[in-house]
Amino acid sequence: MQKSISGFSKLSKRKKLQWIVENFFRDPEGVMKELMSYWLIDEEKQKLLDRFSENTISNFYLPYGVAPNFLINGKSYCIPMVIEESSVVAAAANAAKYWLSRGGFHAQVKSTEKVGQIHFSWDGNIDLLINRIDALKDRLRHRSEDLTKNMEQRGGGITKIELVDLSHSLANTYQLRVSFKTADSMGANFINSVLESFAKTLVEFVACEPCFEPHRQDLEIIMSILSNYTPECLVQAWVECPIEALGTFESYDSLQLAKRFQKAIQIAKVDPYRATTHNKGIFNGIDAVILATANDFRAVEANGHTYAARDGQYRGLTDCSIQDGTFRFSLEIPMAIGTVGGLTTLHPMAKHSLELLGHPDAEELMKIIAVMGLAQNFAAVRSLITTGIQKGHMRMHLYNVLASLNATEYEIEQTVAHFRDQVVSYAAVREFVGRLRTSR
Ligand code: MEV
Repeated sequence: MQKSISGFSKLSKRKKLQWIVENFFRDPEGVMKELMSYWLIDEEKQKLLDRFSENTISNFYLPYGVAPNFLINGKSYCIPMVIEESSVVAAAANAAKYWLSRGGFHAQVKSTEKVGQIHFSWDGNIDLLINRIDALKDRLRHRSEDLTKNMEQRGGGITKIELVDLSHSLANTYQLRVSFKTADSMGANFINSVLESFAKTLVEFVACEPCFEPHRQDLEIIMSILSNYTPECLVQAWVECPIEALGTFESYDSLQLAKRFQKAIQIAKVDPYRATTHNKGIFNGIDAVILATANDFRAVEANGHTYAARDGQYRGLTDCSIQDGTFRFSLEIPMAIGTVGGLTTLHPMAKHSLELLGHPDAEELMKIIAVMGLAQNFAAVRSLITTGIQKGHMRMHLYNVLASLNATEYEIEQTVAHFRDQVVSYAAVREFVGRLRTSR
């Protein structure tokens, strides 16, 4: 049976929830009670959350954790992370502690330019427009002054306007590519507003300039939107130390560790299957901080993955070198984020995250996030080339297995103690809990 409704968005939150539980659940009362139990007691805060999105009926909780002991460019940080996957925060904290005694992490922002595009069709001779491009650029800047004035006062604004010819790939198709600096904001709304104003000005320019007289119908605006690919908004993070300072790990000495580590990084450079998992591990760290600071994780992911494929093949985002006795491990990644505007200043938890980080500006936050991606990749690869990932991961996952078995406090205590020096697997834990239950 198809369950549809018109006017759903106009219902009150309670009525929406009621319709949902009555139409989609076997225990409407129980589910209604449970979903309402996740509503915040503070009604004002709840309203604030509800308005971030649409048709909200409850809240969906994720753990908010912290990874302390990060030393970045000589400054200490305790980094907030929002993530549901066990062992990610522990891995970050381990990597932080490891590098704390080896000089810490280093990071630098290489560039901060973002891009927006206006795509349009031009059915005639494009030279007509090319010949008037300087006048058009002046008009575009002048007509958007109201929008850019504020941003310019904050150190941002429009940095470049170019006409890009796409007609070799798609007939009669062109693009105005606009570069922006957006200071401490991610700048999506600013960029999109400027682009839409530019599109109107372009139409008006072609309609009014006498030189376009017989060609006014040649222009058709298709769309105006920012690009989430920002290869000119780039951050770099790295760690380095003498090879012997890497120490031994499990049965490997420092040189073996360095070489195996480098090989793993090289494998991710040449094989897209491995590169995808490798980069997923990097984004375990990056997304967690992006979420904790209420930035846009979909934008940051899309950006990073496109960058990973910038030469035509998808590759791992980190690099490793062993030179003159020094081990160096680095990450370079584009990142368009903000510390003002959007939800970063509205979401109550994001506000605390930014305070925990010492109120960073956008460039400082770019560095912190890149470092977290690097730390995460370091921890994952070091496990993979030594103990394997499951040993640590399953130990952290143990509580999830116990929860799925509805373990009591007593059973949890006994099981955790038992598996302290045993290999954890779902079957082994189930068997152990089963034995506990029959022996009591
Ligand atoms: C798991 O979430 C992430 C890893 O698979 C990353 C990697 O393989 O590098 C461990």
